[in-house]
Amino acid sequence: MTAVFSDTTLTKESALNMITEQKQNMIDSWRYRAQLYYLFNGIKNIAKDKRLLIVSFIYIAVCLSIRCFISLDNSPNGFGKKWLFTLITVGVLIGFTYYKGKPMGAGKMMRCFIRIGFVSHVGETPLLMDKKIENGTYYLTFRNVSSIPLSQWQDKREFIESGLNLNITDIKEHGKKYIVITAASGENILPDFIEWDDSYLPYKNFELALGETYTGEVKVNLAVTPHALLAGSTGSGKTILLKLLLMQSLKKGAKVYIADFKGGVDFPRVWHNHDKCIFITDKNDLKNKLDEIVIELHRRKALLSNSDCKDIDEYNHKLRKNLHRIIFACDELAEVTEKSGLDKKQKELVSVIEASLSTILRLGRAMGIHAFLSTQRPSRDVIPGVVVNNSDVRICGRADNVLSEIVLDKVDAADLISKNAQGRFLTNDDVLFQAYWFDDSKL
Ligand SMILES: Nc1ncnc2c1ncn2[C@@H]1O[C@H](COP(=O)(O)OP(=O)(O)O)[C@@H](O)[C@H]1O
Ligand SMILES: [Mg+2]
Repeated sequence: MTAVFSDTTLTKESALNMITEQKQNMIDSWRYRAQLYYLFNGIKNIAKDKRLLIVSFIYIAVCLSIRCFISLDNSPNGFGKKWLFTLITVGVLIGFTYYKGKPMGAGKMMRCFIRIGFVSHVGETPLLMDKKIENGTYYLTFRNVSSIPLSQWQDKREFIESGLNLNITDIKEHGKKYIVITAASGENILPDFIEWDDSYLPYKNFELALGETYTGEVKVNLAVTPHALLAGSTGSGKTILLKLLLMQSLKKGAKVYIADFKGGVDFPRVWHNHDKCIFITDKNDLKNKLDEIVIELHRRKALLSNSDCKDIDEYNHKLRKNLHRIIFACDELAEVTEKSGLDKKQKELVSVIEASLSTILRLGRAMGIHAFLSTQRPSRDVIPGVVVNNSDVRICGRADNVLSEIVLDKVDAADLISKNAQGRFLTNDDVLFQAYWFDDSKL
């Protein structure tokens, strides 16, 4: 019996060894095959660059002339010389092409991917094909040889960061074959506190600044991404971020509706005194104000269609009008959408509110009507699907896996943002940033 048992163990062990050995062989063979990719990349790079193309042609022409000259020597010695010269010429050409196709550090990155296990089932790693550094920001283009899905790149983000000693700000697909990583050097640190200064207000209409990444500012352009959902556990910095966005919207001339059911703790008097700020403090009032906004939305829709304009910016520009943007903000969505414990009439009221909110979220962009919503509750019941699906900007601060998953479709906010971080957020585009801290007196 003992003998059988030890036999099985041996078989298992040797099977495991075989698999490891097989994988190692595949990786070793990949190390050689990868060089061909660099060579082809070099041909592509030379073909793209006129100057390199001319230099290569001149080189080939000169070498061919020299070879013709050597050919005049008909002695057996001359024959050998001719072939040696051809060999050296072709060798130099291949070497130069390879040099142009393999960016500095590509080998190191390949070794790092192998070390952290970022290798496909056939033993292939992504290959660095282009590396640009502009003002301290790295733009790394990888050939995603085995089409490793973007989600796996994101899952391995921390390993890639520590392996490459970089702070990644963005991972994007570029076509089907390439992945572009934007990053800062690992020596760069993201400050815990950046105070807002009015000079940060983006010049472009209607862009709002959120904060800073390792490599620069993060902004949102409401003309492109009209609605925002902010999430995070209590104390993560949602209210300050929401107020940062509202303050900038007010400075840019928007009218702001704020649903605040907390008795004004978060919004001191300066906000209430602002002539473009309208506060909503109970659900009946909320229903009425949302009705008003939806009526305005339909009025604007008719205006735009009558004047053949695609959006509010074109309308203002073409007809020299000054239609302002409208922002509806709610700091704790659950206080509006939570239905448990309500009687039938109250539930109906919540449904009507949700319907209006849904209209704003679906149709608001072109009409310049936007929603900024925030939540701390990790429950799908209080964050309606229409909110998540229509919030083009989704931002999550310190959170647990569930909240991060609901808002960003992945648990990354829970993984990347430390438990005591304040004002640190991750966007649905994988941009990690420190939000500007904002003092209400700056309103
Ligand atoms: N951007 C930020 N930078 C630094 N600290 C911040 C930032 N935002 C918030 N904080 C800190 O976190 C505390 C809680 O912020 P708050 O916005 O009220 O969180 P939440 O609304 O998520 O509960 C604030 O009092 C502040 O001290
Ligand atoms: Mg808050």
